[in-house]
Amino acid sequence: MMNALKSVLLSIPIAAATMTPLPLLAMDGAELYVTKTCVACHGKDADTPILPIYPKLAGQSPDYAYNQMVDIKSGARDNGMTAAMRGVMHLVTEEEMRVIADWLATLK
Ligand code: HEC
Repeated sequence: MMNALKSVLLSIPIAAATMTPLPLLAMDGAELYVTKTCVACHGKDADTPILPIYPKLAGQSPDYAYNQMVDIKSGARDNGMTAAMRGVMHLVTEEEMRVIADWLATLK
């Protein structure tokens, strides 16, 4: 495994444990994207993932992105790379995924 990916994966539980939960209404997609660790793999602008084989999320259709998140969380989507992301999906509710998906669609 690449060192960059390894350090991201190792830092996720620490980041999650030290985060103060915020009320959903006070959060927007951009904040959720950072606090729920999506940024660690998909990049600050959601367009420069840490590994080139990881998908770019900026500008995706909100329904497509939302459905992929749901399927990745549930296991309905499962290929060689899916497991990397599934590990953090307990951090987000369906409502939060919706908010993030709507925000991603506004990018680029
Ligand atoms: C540990 C790295 C990692 C983290 C953290 C992560 N993802 Fe992912 N994400 C991936 C990988 C790898 C894929 C591709 C999985 C596959 O091909 O099945 C992916 C796929 C996706 C997709 C589908 C994109 C497409 O084009 O089909 C969406 C949407 C997405 N991630 C959103 C998120 C959101 C939102 C978060 C935060 C809650 C998040 N990801 C956190 C690695 C990660």
